[in-house]
Amino acid sequence: MQNAGIAALNLNWRYLACEVHPNDLASAIAGAKAMKFIGLNLTVPHKILALKMCDVLDDSAKTWGAVNTIRFEIKLNGGWVPINQVPADEVGEIRSHGFNTDADAVTQSIREDLKMEGKGARILILGAGGAGRVAALKCATHGAAELFLINRTKSKAEEAAAEIKSRFPAVTTHTNFPREKIDLIINATSLGLKSNDPLPLSESDFSLKNATAVYDMIYRPAETPFLQLAKSAGCKTANGLGMLLYQGAKALELWSEKPAPLNVMREALLKNIYGK
Ligand code: ATR
Repeated sequence: MQNAGIAALNLNWRYLACEVHPNDLASAIAGAKAMKFIGLNLTVPHKILALKMCDVLDDSAKTWGAVNTIRFEIKLNGGWVPINQVPADEVGEIRSHGFNTDADAVTQSIREDLKMEGKGARILILGAGGAGRVAALKCATHGAAELFLINRTKSKAEEAAAEIKSRFPAVTTHTNFPREKIDLIINATSLGLKSNDPLPLSESDFSLKNATAVYDMIYRPAETPFLQLAKSAGCKTANGLGMLLYQGAKALELWSEKPAPLNVMREALLKNIYGK
């Protein structure tokens, strides 16, 4: 996805994947800075650890409490500019600037892939881990009317509900299942990644017939058993590929300061993930 986007923007960059042990994260970031990398993406389990390791944090990283994108910037005429804007042999102080592009990608994908705005919506969120908590908070910022937060470990759903209550008092939160029809169900649990996983929601707790749309953050397989059931119950459905695409596109925009070639990146994702 990134290399296809980079090529379409005519940039002479390469995007590489490296395995880094959490104990080595600070030295990996320092090494990338010393080698004048343009930037980095971070994934599990580095996103929270990196908060303490960036020289400066964007509001997105502060608000969502995680860093998934770093941009290296160089000091020029008293201000900071992305490092790719200056010749490679330029000498100067470099800083790491941490961003979060994951959170916006959740609501962007729901908006574009399910054509749902979320304002005034009643939403059931399954899972209150890293992804579930951010999805709940994002739905709250977009003006959801009611949120039902369900998690295997109930205390985590209660913590997320308490956070929403204090940050977004206009949103009603529950930690039990809805009794009436709802607009959207989001699966933010890892259930569905493995073929023998149980469903993230049982019919006896809440019937899919009572939901308008279902969003599954899992994108491999393209249609989880949960999404198949939702489709056959008449729900509009989308998987998490859009989340992956939009967080990556936003990162490329931060590094390049150019609009991301979304269609090229989407095609590369579909080809690499589903062989389409
Ligand atoms: P992520 O950052 O992707 O959200 P995570 O924080 O590890 O990853 O969260 C995984 C989510 O899947 C959690 O909501 C987890 O429930 P717990 O908080 O109780 O662990 C949920 N999950 C994972 N395996 C599960 C299972 N077998 N049954 C129900 N929920 C499960």
